[in-house]
Amino acid sequence: MTLEERCPVLQFADLGDERGKLVVIEGGMAIPFQIRRVFYIYESDSTVVRGQHANKESEFVLINVAGKSKVRITDGKEEFIVQLDKPMMGVYIPSMIWKDMYDFSADSVLLVLASTHYNGKEYIRDYKDYLTEMEKMR
Ligand code: TYD
Repeated sequence: MTLEERCPVLQFADLGDERGKLVVIEGGMAIPFQIRRVFYIYESDSTVVRGQHANKESEFVLINVAGKSKVRITDGKEEFIVQLDKPMMGVYIPSMIWKDMYDFSADSVLLVLASTHYNGKEYIRDYKDYLTEMEKMR
């Protein structure tokens, strides 16, 4: 599978009507894991690069519920960039994938759904260490 196939862009159903939009995301249904944690990132500006890590265990779905940002996704060999700019779209990031979030619009609210509770020990924050770990897995 290509990296883009392993990290699919997800389109969520729109349950909106004349009163406005409604998007529902249920763990294990619209996304491939049970949600154990939710966090959101806002007031990051266009000069900031966040993320810059891979996670040994956690899987994530990233959704810009307002505004825009970009996510650079790599496994150390392939790379692609997703622009998140609709509340109805997200990108799935499995474990052991490196991601950088950047180009945040002033109104960006980046919602992150995670499969785990927070554990700083499962983060790989050094890109060289990440490449070494990936080589061991190949
Ligand atoms: P960090 O991982 O640098 O954020 P991002 O990767 O989204 O740019 O997290 C910033 C700080 O917040 C860091 O000290 C760890 C802490 N943190 C938690 O305590 N729990 C969490 O779920 C997350 C995502 C971060």
